[in-house]
Amino acid sequence: MKLHEALNIDLNEINREIKNLVTRDKDVPTHSQLAQSILELTSSGGKRLRPLMVIVGSRFGRKPAGRRTLQLSAAAEFIHAASLIHDDIIDGAELRRGGPALHMKTGILSAVHIGNYMSARIIELLSKYSGDKNRYVHDLSSVATAQLCLGEYQQMEHVFDYDLTLAQYLEKSRNKTALLMATCLRVGALSAESTEETADLLYNFGEALGMSFQIQDDILDFTQSADVLGKPAGSDLRHGQITLPVLFALQDPKLAPVIRSIGPNSSPEELEHVLQLINRSDALARTEAVSQDYLSQAASIVQQLSSFPAHADLEILLEYFAGRDR
Ligand code: FPP
Ligand code: MG
Repeated sequence: MKLHEALNIDLNEINREIKNLVTRDKDVPTHSQLAQSILELTSSGGKRLRPLMVIVGSRFGRKPAGRRTLQLSAAAEFIHAASLIHDDIIDGAELRRGGPALHMKTGILSAVHIGNYMSARIIELLSKYSGDKNRYVHDLSSVATAQLCLGEYQQMEHVFDYDLTLAQYLEKSRNKTALLMATCLRVGALSAESTEETADLLYNFGEALGMSFQIQDDILDFTQSADVLGKPAGSDLRHGQITLPVLFALQDPKLAPVIRSIGPNSSPEELEHVLQLINRSDALARTEAVSQDYLSQAASIVQQLSSFPAHADLEILLEYFAGRDR
């Protein structure tokens, strides 16, 4: 069963709202290349994880979710999609969601402008929903978006930095991945008038889930085949990303000098050799344990929310994150 089915959420409603963001934009005619590129991008699949989190959050409110919740869920996907345009350019990724990445179709310059336009427009739109009564909306438009950019900057700052600390790795992962998920749950809850206390618990749940998600992503880069990943395995290290498996492997005095020898000019054979050494070490198991630890933290928050019937939806999210295809 698909995640949205398990959560009993109508994906068509979310997709329609995402489409509305483009077709109701008065400044950009729907037939223009800009609008068509955004439409193509936002309709090209994707699990809609972040919108689903907004809707699940709203089930902890004191009133039923309305149109505003749906609009916020579409906005969350828009921010995510804009960030992936930039991410694929930065990573030199040719594929996204099984098809060519946007910059492969439009060229890098157009893709940068499309990504900028999408995020700027969404910030403008969300500021209209904001206002004194709905100050939480501001968290999605500015805080989460700024953190995304910061996380990406922190990642770039530490390319091939083998002295990266665990704290720096965790902070980057939190900014790049976990805080948007946390914010989606919180904003969803507040849009349906939950208490601040409940919204904060959901935020912590989303943050723990997001940390586990990013750490799993870092493991998958070692364990999955290129076919499944849609990019060559070992891409992270090839691009100088020092992820958690690498950090753990660096603690082995025999492995450390070999790993540290990898740089931007290393040959594919040298890289392959180091990837194998990391694969054979205990680094992946230790990384998995950290991911599990975040999932346990998330599970204990579900316990604290067990008086809400919707806590069952958090269990479904937990199960989904724990069982992501390895
Ligand atoms: C995926 O990383 C990327 C992110 C989670 C965030 C990227 C954020 C930016 C590029 C900042 C720009 C943001 C805006 C709003 C314009 P990944 O490369 O680890 O995952 P992947 O395997 O899906 O590519
Ligand atoms: Mg990427």
